[in-house]
Amino acid sequence: MSESPATSSRPRVLSGMRPTGKLHLGNYMGALANWVKLQDSGQFECYFFIADWHALTTDYADTSNFLSNTREVILDYLAAGLDPAKSVLFTQSHVPAHAELHLLLSMITSVGWLERVPSYKEQQENLVGKDLSTYGFLGYPLLQAADILMYQPKYVPVGQDQAAHVELTREVARRFNNLYQLNGRDVLPEPDVLLTPSPKLPGTDGRKMSKSYGNTIMLTDPEPEVRQKLKTMVTDPARIRRKDPGDPDKCPVGDLHKVFSTPETLAKVYEGCRSAGIGCIECKGWAADALVQVLDPIQERRAKYTPNEVEDILKDGANRARNRAEQTMTEVRTAMQLIPAAK
Ligand code: TRP
Ligand code: SF4
Repeated sequence: MSESPATSSRPRVLSGMRPTGKLHLGNYMGALANWVKLQDSGQFECYFFIADWHALTTDYADTSNFLSNTREVILDYLAAGLDPAKSVLFTQSHVPAHAELHLLLSMITSVGWLERVPSYKEQQENLVGKDLSTYGFLGYPLLQAADILMYQPKYVPVGQDQAAHVELTREVARRFNNLYQLNGRDVLPEPDVLLTPSPKLPGTDGRKMSKSYGNTIMLTDPEPEVRQKLKTMVTDPARIRRKDPGDPDKCPVGDLHKVFSTPETLAKVYEGCRSAGIGCIECKGWAADALVQVLDPIQERRAKYTPNEVEDILKDGANRARNRAEQTMTEVRTAMQLIPAAK
């Protein structure tokens, strides 16, 4: 059995994702694979959660996929190798204390801080057709701060796109600690961002792999679909005919090889592409081989979990997360003098 999180003395790590539905290879390389590494290093007490309330900040008008999206994402977490015996895996909305901490932190957070978070204006402009002039959307980085500070983590492993949110989290923690102390000490230590090194992972159209571009390879794509997607993938535009030499450094398929292929295959790709010794079809076949090797064990694990097992995992994770959250909340309420100090 795993060590009880409440008694473990390892530094804590916390991260999460909003449930956007089934995850793709970009999500895997940009987050999940790194989380699994942190988990398996055994150095940290790990908390990984699904930020389901965060989905409401942009998709409040249509919640019909709310439950199924969460379910797909937890399955992808498990498929990627997150292990409930090693990490606390839970859903945000199962731990209502996140809402309480968000509320308390909202009292000390200036509106200007939230308006200045770069994603605020960007997303309002990008997500056309959604009215994002809501209180919840403005406040979502603060909800994220509550998600984080709740577990008093040392590190928050996220991609560069989330770094500003961790910075806000640190600012809010600082203000909290300046205003409120518990027996002369800080209650909410400032966490450090642990930037996930994210290799360039192009989608089938050569742009960054992203759900919104429709260019993804899903973790659940069966082998024939992976091969089919690779076939339609764009290549070095200079390589028009079979006899034209190409350059893997200018080719999205080359980028995939760099991430997933063995050094031997990669050497064959460079040599064969530059000398026009291989065709793109052959080269794409090798890339597909490498992807299938990564996806196979993920899909095998995914298929093993029954709905009941997943439910039990989330129930157990919620219990453990709630226990840990309650410790922090007792400290927070006490420091704020909302409840009397324990005798
Ligand atoms: N905002 C993150 C995203 O869009 C998800 C998230 C919510 C998160 N709370 C968090 C990530 C806390 C790390 C820590 O993916
Ligand atoms: Fe890209 Fe491979 Fe074709 Fe070269 S041979 S252009 S690396 S797909």
